[in-house]
Amino acid sequence: MITDHPLRVIQWTTGNVGRRSLHAIIGRPDMELVGVYAHGPEKVGVDAADLAGWPEPTGVRATNDVDALLALGADACCYNPLWPNIDELVRLLESGVNVCTSAAWITGGKQTPQNRQRIVDACERGGSTILGSGAHPGMTNMVGMVLSAACERVDEIRITESVDCSTYESAETQTAMGFSQDPDTPGLTESVRAESEVFAESAAMMADAIGARLDKMTFDVTFTAATADTELGFMRIPAGTVGGVYGYHRGWVGDRNVVSVGFNWTMGDHVVPPKPVEHGHVIQVFGVPNMRTVIHCLPPKDWAEPGFMGLGMIYTAMPVTNAVPAVVAAKSGIVTLADLAPITGRVAR
Ligand SMILES: NC(=O)c1ccc[n+]([C@@H]2O[C@H](COP(=O)([O-])OP(=O)(O)OC[C@H]3O[C@@H](n4cnc5c(N)ncnc54)[C@H](OP(=O)(O)O)[C@@H]3O)[C@@H](O)[C@H]2O)c1
Repeated sequence: MITDHPLRVIQWTTGNVGRRSLHAIIGRPDMELVGVYAHGPEKVGVDAADLAGWPEPTGVRATNDVDALLALGADACCYNPLWPNIDELVRLLESGVNVCTSAAWITGGKQTPQNRQRIVDACERGGSTILGSGAHPGMTNMVGMVLSAACERVDEIRITESVDCSTYESAETQTAMGFSQDPDTPGLTESVRAESEVFAESAAMMADAIGARLDKMTFDVTFTAATADTELGFMRIPAGTVGGVYGYHRGWVGDRNVVSVGFNWTMGDHVVPPKPVEHGHVIQVFGVPNMRTVIHCLPPKDWAEPGFMGLGMIYTAMPVTNAVPAVVAAKSGIVTLADLAPITGRVAR
């Protein structure tokens, strides 16, 4: 998609994912960075270039003044905070700022009906649009939906993130998904279900795309305890605590499991998960024919950063940032990847 003027974009937080988005926005001729929101006080006043690892100053300094950001009249916001905040989203959307987010949003189905309605109403007031994407959920679901186009009959689309998460340095996220906790903690399955419910939203999106009317969603998970301690720097996985999380959010039509979105995650060096880790996103469409692919996120020849975590963060950020032009052009309201033409990257300049 080519726009006739650069789209004016705000970057909301600059953590693992957000700083990759910020880097991409600064580099894109069809986008103009107009504002950066900082949650951390130490980032307020810092030039976006320093936050993104960009070589020259941008002149745009991070702020926690939301009114000032809204007054910019931006076209869009790439919203990548640790936890999404409905009040923030409402303020952005009702002021006319389109939102592209990686923060636990696909359909809004995990929100309370009241909060989801607040988002719908804010979009209507602002004539704005919200899209949630990312790597998983996001890109993986898109590939699953696209693969299903090869089938005369689709029995199930199954997406599995099958990775060692040890290099994903977000202790809050990892602990919320069960890691480092006692596997017998009362309520652990329910809390992991709730924390990962955005995967259920993505399953519902895929079900809708293949014409399945779901009767129910279920969640099942197996926790595997680590057999020895691992020190990861940003967190510890002590022996006997959760070092493997294998589970699915499943959508059902009657007794048929037609969509499944889940994970086979490990952390640390001392865990044997129920299924071998495939180091990628495994996309399976069962039907006629069966289709299968694995998405691997690999370093290019000129990758200069130590380790590969940054690649995964770019893979997470870009489906969201690259969606900005399509989301600005979309009808107002909540849209999903199933509503938009395929989002593409940009050719290198
Ligand atoms: N769909 C996918 O594939 C996928 C994959 C990974 C992550 N995600 C989601 O993407 C989002 C960002 O992930 P991330 O790894 O970048 O997260 P992160 O680095 O741990 O945190 C992101 C930013 O949130 C702000 N923050 C920190 N603590 C906060 C708190 N208690 N309340 C509100 N904001 C807080 C900070 O902003 P400042 O930088 O301004 O201080 C931080 O840099 C999360 O919602 C995550 O679940 C999606």
